Amino acid sequence: MSAITIDGPAGAGKSTVAKALAKELSFFYLDTGAMYRALTLKAMRAGLDLNDEESLVALAKETTFDFKGTAAAPVITLDGKDVGDDIRTPEVTNNTYYIARIPALRAVVVEAQQQIGQMRDIVIEGRDTGTVVFPEADVKFFLDAKLEARSHRRAKDLKEAGRSVDIKNLKNEIQQRDHSDQTRDTGALKKADDAIYIDSTDLTPEQTVEVMLTYIKNY
Ligand code: C5P
Repeated sequence: MSAITIDGPAGAGKSTVAKALAKELSFFYLDTGAMYRALTLKAMRAGLDLNDEESLVALAKETTFDFKGTAAAPVITLDGKDVGDDIRTPEVTNNTYYIARIPALRAVVVEAQQQIGQMRDIVIEGRDTGTVVFPEADVKFFLDAKLEARSHRRAKDLKEAGRSVDIKNLKNEIQQRDHSDQTRDTGALKKADDAIYIDSTDLTPEQTVEVMLTYIKNY
């Protein structure tokens, strides 16, 4: 089985590019951020204290992740239910911090991701997919972009989803997320030594996919 990993900060364009790449290669697309988001939503709905690590780990252990839809555009389901856009609200986005920082919880989620990848060719995106989840991946990318570009992309996505946007707040939130993603003890956001670094600030998603395909074809 082949694995292509794409890691990088929020708003770098990972999801758009990973989906297009999965479609192009007929691989399965796995959005690892969606799994942390889905667990956050489940914990919030259950009214759990987000500082109670033991309960959050127990929650992760009793959760079944599954996917509906097509391989290149799967929709995550949590305990059999479609969570859809509910995992993309600002509340869930901000609370994911509490979930993603717990090493024992990450171990449960990483194992689920590895199982999914063992069964199929996969394009997987997140923060630690090339460093922790699939350190032996065939091709690894680290997708980055300047903060300004990332904030504007996120603003566009939110506007399209019908949400109100304050660009200054959004920029601050992204900076905070970058900081917590880069400084957590386990699964921190960092480029794997053997990952190919791509700055997408001045690239369209199509151009970024082209660049990636060139590397993949030469692999
Ligand atoms: O990629 P996305 O913005 O949807 O991820 C949501 C949050 O999940 C991130 O801010 C990050 O803290 C966390 N995450 C993670 N490890 C991953 C993917 C996402 O900790 N592999």
